[in-house]
Amino acid sequence: MADLSTDLCGLHLRNPILSASGTFGHGLEMAQLVPSEALGGWVSKTVTLTPRPGNSMPRTQETEAGFLNSIGLENRGLEAYIQHTLPQAHGTYALVITNIGGHTEEEFATAAARLDEYPEVQAIEVNLSCPNVDGGRLPYSTDPATAERVMAGVRAATSKPIFAKLSANVTRIEDIAVAAEAGGADGLTVINTLLGMGVDWRRGAPHLGTVVGGYSGTGIKPVALRCAWQVSQAVSIPVVGCGGISDAEDVLQFLAVGCTAVQVGTSSFSNPARLASLAQELSECLDAEGVATSAEVTGRLAQSLRGEAKKP
Ligand SMILES: Cc1cc2nc3c(=O)[nH]c(=O)nc-3n(C[C@H](O)[C@H](O)[C@H](O)COP(=O)(O)O)c2cc1C
Repeated sequence: MADLSTDLCGLHLRNPILSASGTFGHGLEMAQLVPSEALGGWVSKTVTLTPRPGNSMPRTQETEAGFLNSIGLENRGLEAYIQHTLPQAHGTYALVITNIGGHTEEEFATAAARLDEYPEVQAIEVNLSCPNVDGGRLPYSTDPATAERVMAGVRAATSKPIFAKLSANVTRIEDIAVAAEAGGADGLTVINTLLGMGVDWRRGAPHLGTVVGGYSGTGIKPVALRCAWQVSQAVSIPVVGCGGISDAEDVLQFLAVGCTAVQVGTSSFSNPARLASLAQELSECLDAEGVATSAEVTGRLAQSLRGEAKKP
């Protein structure tokens, strides 16, 4: 069987497949459907310092090729996460990555400092798509300077590996990636949802209560793959691919463009047990091609374009 073990910023993953933030329950709801051994690690839903009620209904809508959502960072707050979710997640998953959000640079740093006290948290993922209250509510992910400052604040607050989660809703995602790396990110997660919307033209009603929300799932895969490729070319830190991944072929495409690991989100909504068999499928796919390790697929596209690819 192909070896799927992966080193991600010094973290040992049994396979390169992680759950994506906000798509795998708030806690352990999915553990009954997906054995924890099937995952390389678990990523929490975004946790904020104080509880947040989330956005107005409706918050989700299926589309032809994916999913629209406007959940709006609903969560019970950092202390409830530390008290209730973290001990359970730690007891269940081999690797726990806590995704944090904030509305000021200080909120991100404060959350990171608090989580730094808990060895149960192996890494922190920083959701840069949160609106910046001090910056006209533009997301941190849209401006290199603010993205760098957020990451620098988080870097100063913790010695754990930190990942910046980037958005594709920008002109040049590479610029944000380079800034996050300069701020001290150990790795990058690429990408969060794309801006999208749906409308019922008969009633003149939006499909989401917030009108505009986040688009995810199969339809965004080419965009996510493009972003993962561009970012991988621009930085020297590991990239975790995310966006529209639903099968082993998708995972391998993200590795080929330069990703070290991947996250799977929306595909768990159409098939909640999707992640139970994905690692096994990945092994079988690599075995069928005579590839011994998933790690050697990482960066294959760039090698091939440079003329360094191994002959099949
Ligand atoms: C219902 C829903 C909730 C999400 N919540 C979060 C969240 O709390 N924090 C975050 O960083 N990303 C969140 N995301 C984005 C996903 O983690 C992922 O980046 C995005 O959906 C693209 O991957 P996918 O196409 O595999 O779903 C959410 C996505 C969905 C569909």
